[in-house]
Amino acid sequence: MKMTKFLISASVVAFAFTMIACGDKPKEAATTEVAPAATVDPEIAKGEEIFSQNCASCHGEKGAGDGAAAAALNPKPRNFKAPASEWKNGNTLAGITKTLNEGIKGSPMVAYKHLGNDNIATLAKYVEYLGKN
Ligand code: HEC
Repeated sequence: MKMTKFLISASVVAFAFTMIACGDKPKEAATTEVAPAATVDPEIAKGEEIFSQNCASCHGEKGAGDGAAAAALNPKPRNFKAPASEWKNGNTLAGITKTLNEGIKGSPMVAYKHLGNDNIATLAKYVEYLGKN
């Protein structure tokens, strides 16, 4: 009798462990599925990094045109939230891409063609993002 009881409780314990082990897996899967949605779009994160290194000194970290060098500049760096009418090449992806490839003549805004097409596309999306956020 005692042996039977032991076997029963042993299998109950084993069953419980199986349930815990199985119960854990879906939880982990659910966590990894939720995480990417909560984090920033990787292209925006990449854009932020390139912008911080190349552009923020003039345009400011948030693109408000208030970087450390801005006070000494004429014309002033564009505030990316400025209305479209104040932009020379326009605040569309095409306009921003043109600015980055060619610069703006007669202004401290030089061309950034050397960063390459991929980085320029990423930056253009980030500038557009800053204009809206
Ligand atoms: C040396 C300071 C400086 C740096 C660095 C700089 N900019 Fe500018 N940027 C300016 C100035 C000044 C203007 C305004 C030019 C004008 O009105 O003629 C400008 C204008 C712009 C415009 C608006 C163009 C338009 O259509 O009016 C965009 C977009 C822009 N910059 C993006 C960038 C990006 C992205 C970077 C980094 C790769 C960058 N800038 C780096 C000074 C800078």
